[in-house]
Amino acid sequence: MWDTISDKLRKAEKIVFVTGAGISQESGIPTFRGKDGLWRKYDPMKLATIDAFYEDPKLVWEWYEERRQNILNASPNPGHVAIAELEKYKKVSVLTQNIDGLHQRAGSSSVYELHGSIITIKCTICDFKNKITAGFSQLPPLCKCGNILRPDVVWFGEALPQDVWESAMILASSCDAMIVVGTSLAVSPANLLPVYAKQNGATMIEVNVEQTHMSSSMDLSLRASAAKALPELVGIISHF
Ligand code: APR
Repeated sequence: MWDTISDKLRKAEKIVFVTGAGISQESGIPTFRGKDGLWRKYDPMKLATIDAFYEDPKLVWEWYEERRQNILNASPNPGHVAIAELEKYKKVSVLTQNIDGLHQRAGSSSVYELHGSIITIKCTICDFKNKITAGFSQLPPLCKCGNILRPDVVWFGEALPQDVWESAMILASSCDAMIVVGTSLAVSPANLLPVYAKQNGATMIEVNVEQTHMSSSMDLSLRASAAKALPELVGIISHF
């Protein structure tokens, strides 16, 4: 079985990765739903919705600024680096739910941030938007226009960036292989991407320390950590 799959992966030209918080866990960034995940300690409805933001922008900003600093001090791990390395051999696209920018910092050149970026900051009113890595002395930070700034992330109840989502659907539906890494597949519409790939006959691989509701529909579900499994998997794919 493994020979067949590795043969298909080696023959694959277009490989799409769908990644979640689990790929950044070994970079020291907490996941959301794991045993010590963020949603175990904090109520997402109080911190990651547009209503929560307008109800208490200072609280929401305190939480995001703490995460921003942790993320900015984090480094890509061998899982991120392996995906970037694969670009030397295959056409690789990364559809990530993560907002930490670690795929780009590892060298991946085709990254679609489905849930936005915590590094990019935008104004709630005017069209200001920019990457800001410095810490904010005052929370919530204000735009030059006088209105509150916000992280350019997709909150629960908000739509994904339309152009990013359309590209993600096209890439998922037309890839030869999809590798789903470190995501519980609990959140839509990102969790539809593996369904599109499977419907279009892609070879489906999952890398997760735990089982997910799609594990049984994968061609291969590796119960392993991203930083360990991805370098091995990429080694097999790139070994002609
Ligand atoms: N290697 C591989 N997988 C791991 C690792 C690891 N080192 N550590 C944890 N995992 C797996 C967990 O088993 C879990 O299935 O990663 C997954 C993380 O799931 P979630 O915490 O639900 O994160 P994610 O799937 O990215 O959440 C999706 O939900 O809260 C929103 O916007 C947020 O983008 C996020 C979305």
